[in-house]
Amino acid sequence: MIRVLPGHVVDRIAAGEVVERPASVAKELVENALDAGATEVSVEFASGGVERLEVADDGMGMDGDEALLALERHATSKIESESDLLSVGTFGFRGEALPSIASVSRMTLLSRARGASSGTSIRIEGGRILERSPAGVPEGTRVRIEDLFFNTPARLKFLKTERTETARLLEIIRHLALTHPCVAFSALRDGVEIFSYAVVQEEGERVSQVMSRLDLHGFVGSAGGLTVRGYLAGPASARAGAGGLVLLVNGRPVTDRSLAGSIAAAHEGILPPGRYPQGVVYMEVPHGMVDVNVHPQKRELRFSDPRAVTGVLYRTVSGWARSAPWTRPAGTYAMAVGVAEPAHGLARAPAPPGRVPGTQAPAPDDAPVPDMPLLGTRQETAFSSLEVIGQVLGTFIVCEGPDRMVIVDQHAAAERVTFERLRDEWRTGSVPSQLLLVPQRIEMDPVRAALVEENEGLLGAFGIGADVSGPEVVTVREVPALLSGVDPERLLEAVLDELQSSRGRLETLAEQVLSTMACHASIRGGDAMDVEAGHALLTALDRVDWAHHCPHGRPVSFEIPRSELERRLGRRG
Ligand SMILES: Nc1ncnc2c1ncn2[C@@H]1O[C@H](COP(=O)(O)OP(=O)(O)O)[C@@H](O)[C@H]1O
Ligand SMILES: [Mg+2]
Repeated sequence: MIRVLPGHVVDRIAAGEVVERPASVAKELVENALDAGATEVSVEFASGGVERLEVADDGMGMDGDEALLALERHATSKIESESDLLSVGTFGFRGEALPSIASVSRMTLLSRARGASSGTSIRIEGGRILERSPAGVPEGTRVRIEDLFFNTPARLKFLKTERTETARLLEIIRHLALTHPCVAFSALRDGVEIFSYAVVQEEGERVSQVMSRLDLHGFVGSAGGLTVRGYLAGPASARAGAGGLVLLVNGRPVTDRSLAGSIAAAHEGILPPGRYPQGVVYMEVPHGMVDVNVHPQKRELRFSDPRAVTGVLYRTVSGWARSAPWTRPAGTYAMAVGVAEPAHGLARAPAPPGRVPGTQAPAPDDAPVPDMPLLGTRQETAFSSLEVIGQVLGTFIVCEGPDRMVIVDQHAAAERVTFERLRDEWRTGSVPSQLLLVPQRIEMDPVRAALVEENEGLLGAFGIGADVSGPEVVTVREVPALLSGVDPERLLEAVLDELQSSRGRLETLAEQVLSTMACHASIRGGDAMDVEAGHALLTALDRVDWAHHCPHGRPVSFEIPRSELERRLGRRG
């Protein structure tokens, strides 16, 4: 039964605007459909949801009087009293969504209660009810929103491009689809199906439907009445922000920095700091431990004991991550993410009990770097004056200089050289690019594709020519000339990570993007290098401004003076 909440309950509800953009409308309408016990939810839209957005369900429906009442502020069938607020089992409870949406759009509400012989149609414009009439409609509810924000031009102006709004809208529907595997979901844009998820029995199956691009691995854990069920992808698809990580607490998609942070922290040694795995993590928390009534859109939560929650999450994820398939062998991962550092961490990570650790990279902590002077602390030494003796361990160039031996990290050196060149190009206008013989099509989630669209110009200045050629397809046509041979997909993904996670000045962003690009292009540890190539690299190092550290801050070289060699070999002192 729908009724208007009494004033004292209304006063206890987190107030605020729920309708910011088409995606928020979609969220409220799909949540209502799920709350109504639908087994099938379909969303249709045009123009990013602004021109038209329609959500249809086969749920319990409403009779004519209920439908009318549903449009009143604080009318809800989901809670009755203040105490219900502590144990809400539905998405909705505020009774605000329908009237809020109706007040900023032209809405048609079509509904027929289960078992009723006919249905009702109500037309509302800017909150004014224009017409109520009987209608021959199927059981369930269909809410059609047209011309969203037609009477609030300011809000219309705040919207992003159609592609971005579309991406957000689809993302919200996907997240909600994760909450109900037994409900079929479909999304149509201009009559064209974008996705359709059939009913499945298992949560994990729904996760695979929604995250079809990722290779996910599942795990579970529980402690203190809390349960964690995770489906996470490996380091190769990790991102610089939590954008690819969906968190659901008690069946509700949420945005929570501390939960996402715990998941990232649980990957210490597997992912570099600041990177997050992609995937889905469900948490079940006893109702008494969590308050959903803190945010109008209910995206945020408050836990009575946040540390207990993050603790269980951290322990579950880290316990699993240590034995996840990608932690063995160690070497493959460092290549996959294009950052050399993580291999160190892997060596440090405790081996899971009863498991023989795989091949592990030597821990650089053990390397004699700290007590050795870096080359170049003595001004007169030029890299190019060194004699290249050869490559050792597939990674290091051993050189001889006046009275010393010098060891250069070929990847760090190449990265520094490429970075400096790219930065020079960037500073003098834009980075020259080279057309790919075969443009590369990349399937990408719509949020990322929208990011490409919004940043086409910026990417162009970095020498990356990319455009969006479908809601989930991006085509890379040009890469920086200096980086020919780079994998265009990995380059673009890495740059998008930087764009997504940065909020600094352009200059800082540029440094980050350029160093990421340099890392992708450079000769890697493990690449064979002959004496000639080694010497060419050293010569190039002399031409860069600040050659002694790679853009990530690792040293490029260190030296062992003759005296040190003699001392260690017992020839002296
Ligand atoms: N799709 C739907 N099917 C059946 N009933 C609905 C549907 N959408 C809304 N309602 C009814 O209208 C009421 C008001 O909806 P809403 O404004 O979203 O508030 P809330 O979801 O917080 O209760 C709901 O409590 C429910 O009774
Ligand atoms: Mg609702």
